Amino acid sequence: MADLEALKKEAALRAVALVESGMCVGLGTGSTAKYAIEELGRKISSGELTGIIGVATSNASEQLAREVGVPVEEFDCQQFDVAIDGADEIAPNLDLIKGLGGALTREKLLELRAHRLVIIADHTKLVKRIGEKAPIPVEIVRFGVASTLERLRDLGAGGELRSRGGEHFVTDNGNLIFDARFARIDDASALARDLKLTAGVVETGLFLGMAERAFVATPEGVRELT
Ligand code: 5RP
Repeated sequence: MADLEALKKEAALRAVALVESGMCVGLGTGSTAKYAIEELGRKISSGELTGIIGVATSNASEQLAREVGVPVEEFDCQQFDVAIDGADEIAPNLDLIKGLGGALTREKLLELRAHRLVIIADHTKLVKRIGEKAPIPVEIVRFGVASTLERLRDLGAGGELRSRGGEHFVTDNGNLIFDARFARIDDASALARDLKLTAGVVETGLFLGMAERAFVATPEGVRELT
């Protein structure tokens, strides 16, 4: 089987091919989005693309963008021509789970302003039904965390607070992430609404009806899903 990293890079290159000079580009987060940022930097350095403005969905992506020569602006209320980002699950209708990289809130804020949200991934992210493999990352404020977890469990969520190196994982916004697992998700929209209405929840990793297309790399080549 082709190397997964090579596949991720292939998908990223297909997405960056959509970027034209003068565009405002939303820069995603994660190991696949990294390839897109690097390719954007390469095209800017070689003069293939000019007048690009990037806005990053995480501190890590912002740092990488600066390193590879992508001009970065703060997120204000720009409309993005295109946002390019990875995903943790991609359903057949392009509903997504995002946020295993921890950047879900900034990703959602920015990608809601994108004319085109283009997803890049390898084939392991494809699922028949949302929630089949990945947990749903839910960003929550630290204050009153135990009571927020209680409310989430009342909604039927199993799962746990994300930790890294024995400590709670902390987002760029200073919040925590609960990786929620549900037995079976029949109505993702209803679940997204219920989670958002839960006091203490900042944002969820359910990205429903947002993606315009996905470039999914498989050992047989890149599939474009719309
Ligand atoms: C970060 C994300 C990432 O896009 C998602 O986790 C996919 O990452 P990777 O490309 O490393 O598999 O949502 O919050």
